[in-house]
Order: sequence, then structure tokens, then C-alpha cells
Amino acid sequence: MDFFTEISTIKQAVVCAKNRSILNLFDAPNRVEYFSLSAADLYLDYSKQNITKAELNHLVEWAKGCELSHHINAMFSGDKINNTEQRAVLHTVLRAPSSVKHQVLGKEAVEVEQTEQHMAQIVDDICQGKLTGLTGEKFTDVLAIGIGGSYYGIKVGLSALHPYHSTGLKVHVLANVDGAAVTEKLENLNAATTLVVIISKTFTTQETLLNAKAIKTWMLAELNDNNAIAKQWYAVSSNVEQAQSFGLNAANILPMWDWVGGRFSLWSAVGLPLALAIGNKHFTELKAGAYAMDLHFKTASFEQNMPVLMALIGMWNRNALNYQSLAVLPYDHALRALPGYLQQTDMESNGKSVSKQGEKLNWLTAPVVFGQEGTNGQHAFMQLMHQSDEIIPTDFIVALQGTSKLDEHHKVLVANCFAQSEALMQGKSLAQAQDELIAKGASKEEVSRLAVHKTMKGNTPSNTILMQSLTPNCLGAILALYEHKIFVQGTLWQVNSYDQWGVELGKQLSEQVLALMSGSSANHQMSPSSVKLIEAFIQKQTTI
Ligand code: F6P
Repeated sequence: MDFFTEISTIKQAVVCAKNRSILNLFDAPNRVEYFSLSAADLYLDYSKQNITKAELNHLVEWAKGCELSHHINAMFSGDKINNTEQRAVLHTVLRAPSSVKHQVLGKEAVEVEQTEQHMAQIVDDICQGKLTGLTGEKFTDVLAIGIGGSYYGIKVGLSALHPYHSTGLKVHVLANVDGAAVTEKLENLNAATTLVVIISKTFTTQETLLNAKAIKTWMLAELNDNNAIAKQWYAVSSNVEQAQSFGLNAANILPMWDWVGGRFSLWSAVGLPLALAIGNKHFTELKAGAYAMDLHFKTASFEQNMPVLMALIGMWNRNALNYQSLAVLPYDHALRALPGYLQQTDMESNGKSVSKQGEKLNWLTAPVVFGQEGTNGQHAFMQLMHQSDEIIPTDFIVALQGTSKLDEHHKVLVANCFAQSEALMQGKSLAQAQDELIAKGASKEEVSRLAVHKTMKGNTPSNTILMQSLTPNCLGAILALYEHKIFVQGTLWQVNSYDQWGVELGKQLSEQVLALMSGSSANHQMSPSSVKLIEAFIQKQTTI
């Protein structure tokens, strides 16, 4: 059902929204109070969105009509909602209390809790020096090897929770297959005191396996002892057989379950490298924050439900107002990895055009998600956001309390965040630009020449998510908030948010390219362009 073509009132509303000023919507009494809410220690201000109470209520009623509550319960109950892989989607259970684990998973809860305990024990034993490297020295560094969901969650956690790094271990992540990334990591590692955690749900990912082989070769050469892998390596995978054949000690392989999608797996043993940096207590707090958001999502009425409201407004912007992108702008250096994390979580989940039932969709789905830490974005892409014709809805995320002692810096950071959301909404009219130039003493000629270049379209909608400070709890709540927003959007767009068949073709073609690079003359489906590029690579020259 294409909700934006079949509900005439929405169509009328869309025409109206396209031609109205968001700023004027504040003439309605108590708009800020109505268009804001708190949950799981987060505060969401969505009053700068281009939507009225009536329009939002219409979307909420429509979501109810789509039986969204039923779909939410189905996910939390373990129904196989990932229909193309016939899997449940139960990453939420990993952060739920034991009683919920046993209620939902049955006997599998035993293995899940054993894995949790094993993870915590590894952290404790390494911190206390009970687990050491081959030479008996305490571990100083951890190298996590993985990519996609086996990397992004760890990366965002390590940078976001830098102030909570409490174990003394330096944790590094290696994802890209580029040898430069490998050599850069090895520059500062001592093989005798480095613990390696290879993370791969399938244990077949080309980049991860090649990186693991390179690190294995390095470590064996440095330590000259074949026991190094069994002693200093852990794996997190659902493919125990492949992990063991790589040389890992079976006791050092922690499981991943098929009901945990890679991009939703930080809460599992995939989080081990993060727990090794921040300690068990803080890792538990991270999961508790996510669980608090789960409870809110499951119990709050849609009218007061943060993930549901963000999802519906996101769909209003995407499908009704036809905005192509979503900018995620954390005004927080520690959250600089969040946009990249959400690119996978959002675009790999909902970047699809076929419904769960296999029908071609006649509406758009996931937006192009991009962003970077503020205020850096103000010196990069915000010129376009202010003065191009593209309207790019934006999520601002900022903490009231900074983690540094530089209060003036934090005040300026927050001021810029609030100012940008205001500027994107207000813009600057030609008359305002003219008045400003006149006030500065510009000549009539300068005013007529310059004013038009200083106008800004405004009317860019945004959310502002506030937290007291970026704690493990708040990070958990933020990640869960977006997980659930994406779930709601995928459900209402009628796509399967939990498979990722789109990544397969590139993998297949890379095998053909590699064969051609190695001189194979086997049949291939490469275009003349790619054949020429491959020849250039073989000849290591660009002018051929
Ligand atoms: O990006 C494709 C993908 O399959 C992701 O979904 C996954 O997180 C990543 O590759 C890594 O997969 P694995 O954990 O199996 O190595």
C-alpha cells in the first residue's frame, strides 16, 4: 500500500507543507512542548520539523492501521521476521534481563548467558594478568579484526566512550583490506603483548580473512612459536569450524547466533574488544541504556514513542516531502564515528526496492545518510545545506555537559549546534540580506550586487537529540533509538531490514577481477572499461 498516494489528505498536506514556513508553525501555542519528549535519558526536540499536529496524528493513525504494534511484538518475541533468511531478529534479547532471555530463547538462553560470562571472565583475567601472552607478559594492546557490523559498533563505542577506557588496554580496530591499514596498525604493536580478536559472523569475509592471515604471519614471525595463535587469539563467529581451521583454540571461539544481524551485534561477544577497553561495568551500562530504550519502544504510546516518531517524521520527509538525504551531525568529537555506523545500520537495512513479499516497491525507502562531527561539518558541507536547493533533514546530537574540562569550548560547540538548526530553519530572505548590507554601510550598488548571494533558503527540518552527558547508558540508548527507528521504517516500507543481498554482486565480481589480475583468461563479465583498468594495474602504469 503506497500510503502517500492513497491517502488524499496526506497529498493535500504535502502541497501545503511544501509551501509553508516551518518558523510560522511556532505560531501554534506550545509547539515545543507538544513536539518534544524524553525517554531513556534522551530528550528529542522535533519541533523544527515541517509537520503539524494533524499531519503527525494522521501518520500515527496510519501506523496503527498498519498493525505496527503487532510487528513490534513479533520482533521482540522472536518471530522469523527476516523472511529471506528465515531468521528471527533478537539482538534486543542480548541486553535484556535473564528472565527475558529465558522466556524468549528457551534453552538457548543458557549458551547466551554462558557467553556473557565467558566474555566478562576474559576481560577480568586479562586485566588481572591471569591471561597473558606466550612470554607471560601482561597484554598491553588488543587488535580487533573485522569489517561492517563486525567493526562499526566497536569503533563507535571506542571513540564515544574514550573517557570510560578504564582497563589500561589500548584497543585498535582493523577493517579495510588496504595493506596500509595493516602496516599502520603493526607500527605500534608488540606481538608478545597483543591480543587479537578476529570477528566475523560468517568467517568468510575476504577482507577480514586476508587481514587475519597477515597479522597471523606477523605474529608467528615475531614470536617464532606456533602456539601464539591458540594462546593470544580469540574469535567471535557463528562458523566455529572455519575459525578452528584458522588455528584458533576452540575454547577461545565465542559464538554468534543467526538471530543477531551483523550490524546489530555490538551487544553480543562482538563487543568484546570494547569491553576490554571500557571494562565489564561500563559495557553492562551500555547494554542497560539500550534496554531502557527497548522498554520505552515496547511500552510507550506511538504519540509519545521516540523511535516511532522519528521513524514517521523521517518517512514524511522522505516520501511526502521527497527529501533524498539525512544528515547525522553529532556535535561531539567522541561521536565522530556515529554517522559511519548509522550509514550501515540504516542504508544496509532499508536501502532496498523490493518488498518482503518480493514486489517492486512504488515508493522510495532509505535516505542517503551522511554526516560528520560538528562543528567540522560547518566547514565542509553545510554551505550546500544552507544555499543549494537541496533540503536535507538533519539530526543534531549534543550533550549538555562536555567530557573535557574546557567549559568555554563546550559552550561554543553547543551554541554552534543550536545556531545551525536555527539557521537551517530560518534561512535569510533577500530583504534581510539587503538590510544587513545597508546596516554595514554598503552602497546601493553593492547591495543590489551582493544581497542575492547572501540569501539562504531555510525551511530545513531537523531533530535535536540532547543528553546530559555522553555516558555508556546514553550511547546505548542512542544506538537502540536508531535501531528501532530503522525497524519501524522498514516495517512500514514493507522491506526486510535484516538481509543484505545487495553486497553479494560486488563480492562475486571481485573474484573475477582478481582472476584477471592474476593473468587468468577464464570467461568474465567485465566491461572494456574495467578490462582496461585491470590492464593498467597489471602493467602498473596509467598511460596504456
Ligand atoms: O556488509 C556486508 C556484511 O555482510 C555485513 O552485513 C556484515 O556486518 C559484514 O559484511 C561482515 O560480515 P562478517 O561478520 O560475516 O565478517
